[in-house]
Amino acid sequence: MKYAGLKLVLLGALLWTACKKDNPQKVDDRPWYSVYPDDFPSPIIPGENQPNAARIELGKALFYDPILSIDSSISCASCHVPSLAFADNAATTPGVFQRPGTRNVPSLFNLAYQPHYLREASLPTLEMQILVPIQEHNEFAHNIVDIGVTLSKIPFYDSLSRLAYGQEPGPYSITRSIAAFERTLISANSAYDQARRGQRIRSSAEEKGYQLFLSDRLNCAKCHSEPFFTNFQPENNGLYMTYKDPGRFRFSKLSEDSGSFKIPSLRNVALTPPYMHDGSIRTLNEVIDFYASGGANNPNKNPLIQGFTLSPEEKSDLIIFLQSLSDSSFVKNPNYRP
Ligand code: HEC
Ligand code: HEC
Repeated sequence: MKYAGLKLVLLGALLWTACKKDNPQKVDDRPWYSVYPDDFPSPIIPGENQPNAARIELGKALFYDPILSIDSSISCASCHVPSLAFADNAATTPGVFQRPGTRNVPSLFNLAYQPHYLREASLPTLEMQILVPIQEHNEFAHNIVDIGVTLSKIPFYDSLSRLAYGQEPGPYSITRSIAAFERTLISANSAYDQARRGQRIRSSAEEKGYQLFLSDRLNCAKCHSEPFFTNFQPENNGLYMTYKDPGRFRFSKLSEDSGSFKIPSLRNVALTPPYMHDGSIRTLNEVIDFYASGGANNPNKNPLIQGFTLSPEEKSDLIIFLQSLSDSSFVKNPNYRP
């Protein structure tokens, strides 16, 4: 069934190319996976891994298939749950054999714009990132070469991989296809976006919360900057005096990077409690209390974290603004479901 659907999509793509020649003024017949928001910067898509229907179909099937884990018990989607903006609601989540996780599962969207991945901002491409969960002892604990051999014996994967990348399933097509699927995960239609595009008007609480967010009193937008609500840089926000997890230091070995973690996007943040790299803060209310307190006196803490005082009404406005960053059309998008 799946394969028949795919053929139709490919046929559609061919017809589309044929029509385009006759209709040069028609610009928006692009397939869904090639459409990126006009008001975002250009996405970063590697030349050798341009998207097409077969690549995305393969990557999506693998993303949801527990076959990638050593005992076929969990898939990428076990931790990155679509209805929760591809994160989950646990502080940390076990991998195979209930081996405990060490960091909070990040949400996955707008990945095509990120200059680097992981909470320590250490990996330059999505293709490389896929090797991490596959090999990690406390995630899939598997070997990508062995997975390729298994997939080659399954006609669905064998034919799809050949169609997508001209070769049998293996490390090349597994990493490329999952990355191609991940780059299609775009969240740009929250209530905040609709207001920005003039399609709705912000409530007064939302507007006040937005102005607080942008203000020099709170400084939030200096790190969580628009339109992604992160500038993607690793920073120390003063969560602890002494960090159990050294963050970016693990990668760079520079003492000034100790306790630095990639600034997370605040899009869909209301859907993904608990918060921070270790899931140690349970609610948005408590996150704001943390920033209001000015955090711990860690020597690496970014000086933008100064502390502030908010009235109960201002605090509630800020939370209402953060909630307006939730994108229900993203979490319900059928293109992202198996
Ligand atoms: C056991 C839970 C678990 C599974 C299974 C899992 N992940 Fe993750 N994922 C995490 C955690 C935890 C992190 C953060 C790791 C870190 O920063 O060191 C993460 C990070 C990521 C990131 C980086 C996001 C960013 O913003 O930097 C991507 C992309 C990702 N995972 C994709 C995948 C894919 C694809 C799969 C399947 C091949 C997968 N994950 C399987 C828990 C999981
Ligand atoms: C110096 C840069 C900086 C400033 C200023 C800043 N943040 Fe953060 N924020 C971070 C970093 C870094 C993290 C991740 C820390 C971690 O993972 O331990 C974070 C995490 C968060 C999280 C948790 C997100 C998640 O998915 O876990 C929320 C919510 C948040 N910040 C909101 C705010 C608000 C609201 C403000 C303004 C009051 C603010 N931040 C100001 C850097 C900053």
